[in-house]
Amino acid sequence: MMPGSLESIQYLVSSKEPCGIETPSKDYSSTEVSSVVATCENVEHYKQMGRIDPSQLLHRMLPLDKKHSFWETQPVEQYHDRGKNTEDEGPIAPLRSVAEVRTNPYKLPKHYEWCICDLNCTHTMNEIFNLLSNHYVEDFESMFRYNYSKDFLQWALRPPGYFPSWHIGVRVEATKRLVAFITGIPVNMRLHSMCMPMAEVNFLCIHKKLRSKRLAPLLIKELTRRVHLENIWQAIYTAGIVLPTPLVTCQYWHRPLNSKKLIKVGFSQLGLGMTMGRTIKHYRLPQKTFTPGFRAMERRDISAVARLLQQYLQQFVVAPELSEADVEHWLVPLNNVVNTYVIEDVESHNITDVCSFYTLPSTVLGDQRHTALKAAYLFYNVTTKTPLSQLVNDLLIVAKQSEYDVFNVLDIMQNQSFLQELKFKLGDGHLQYYLYNYRLKEPLSPGDLGVILL
Ligand SMILES: CC(C)(COP(=O)(O)OP(=O)(O)OC[C@H]1O[C@@H](n2cnc3c(N)ncnc32)[C@H](O)[C@@H]1OP(=O)(O)O)[C@@H](O)C(=O)NCCC(=O)NCCS
Repeated sequence: MMPGSLESIQYLVSSKEPCGIETPSKDYSSTEVSSVVATCENVEHYKQMGRIDPSQLLHRMLPLDKKHSFWETQPVEQYHDRGKNTEDEGPIAPLRSVAEVRTNPYKLPKHYEWCICDLNCTHTMNEIFNLLSNHYVEDFESMFRYNYSKDFLQWALRPPGYFPSWHIGVRVEATKRLVAFITGIPVNMRLHSMCMPMAEVNFLCIHKKLRSKRLAPLLIKELTRRVHLENIWQAIYTAGIVLPTPLVTCQYWHRPLNSKKLIKVGFSQLGLGMTMGRTIKHYRLPQKTFTPGFRAMERRDISAVARLLQQYLQQFVVAPELSEADVEHWLVPLNNVVNTYVIEDVESHNITDVCSFYTLPSTVLGDQRHTALKAAYLFYNVTTKTPLSQLVNDLLIVAKQSEYDVFNVLDIMQNQSFLQELKFKLGDGHLQYYLYNYRLKEPLSPGDLGVILL
């Protein structure tokens, strides 16, 4: 096919994969047209070629024929609106007041009831952990499933100013068994120059036996109602699937740290003409970090890190506005949850750079020898002095020393700049970012995003 023709665009099936597979992305263009989306990278490519208006291109590549009986009723950008460029940027639904919000929860099917999940209660935490570890996101081939730790969930769901009422569960009335879950946390988000409070929605999960019964729209509507009750009218969320309408589609890249295990469990494949020995050698890392002054972040660094991060995030179209309290919560290291490092200038003792990752293991399904994959995910970084690739290389080294199996990165922020150099491989996991009740005029590229959802 000729480069530049529509047919030559690589269509990619979306799946929010726990880890992704270290093989080239699959081409499903002929069989799965209804669930395809083109990556923004492709759009960028065509934009550069100047052949076609990128917003028109995105519009033509969305699954326009797919019906969304729920999402078509919501104040989100619809597929057919994309590319029109006629509407102003801003909220989609007319402004409302809290007094207009319904006071009663939505009605659940018979035999089920709403609950607020108290994350300070050990028993409830065990219930949430069990639901997610057995029923949350799996890869396309059901080889791996995310396995968020309880400490991680408590960290992810209790940032400064969190609302306990946004940790919503559904129980079986008779047995009180937890069968569904959805959460929101508050965040101050900046879109271009507009800063607004939003809900970050995450951990939507329904027990496998209750799927396809339209319970998800109820969970989403109930969370939305409770968000509105706090006078908050926008939300940001991500999903592996394509819904109306992605703000941007991102891709996961993977840097093997323990190639032998990754290949054994089927996460990676031995490259053509490669032996195990050569592969291990190819991905070998130094024993020690490279950057002078590299050390774990401490509480005394909070102000300096906050200042650096606030400044750094200004360059992105979409990014959170983080207070010192936010930085304390999100970045002070927490064992097996979040690792943050700073570079302290050897002479001035000023903090010049920051880098971090969070820990999200996956369960290996159906493998007797290995039950878990320990994965690090790149989190927030700031560079003022050290090259970003050098900082991330230092992170790879500490992650390898702490026996992580793989280091994962989304192609957002400035991450595309080091992927090849540091031997990251493109996975087949995609992640769509979405906004609720807000429209941006122009489609974004992954590099415009300065926000990470866990
Ligand atoms: C995602 C999940 C909750 C959906 O439940 P389900 O039983 O398959 O779907 P339901 O019948 O209840 O509802 C279908 C509606 O929910 C929407 N929906 C499904 N997954 C969604 C998601 N991740 N985000 C937002 N909406 C979603 C569908 O698009 C559909 O609406 P539409 O008709 O307007 O398109 C369920 O599949 C699940 O728990 N999966 C594993 C965990 C997971 O993938 N969570 C999402 C992480 S992003």
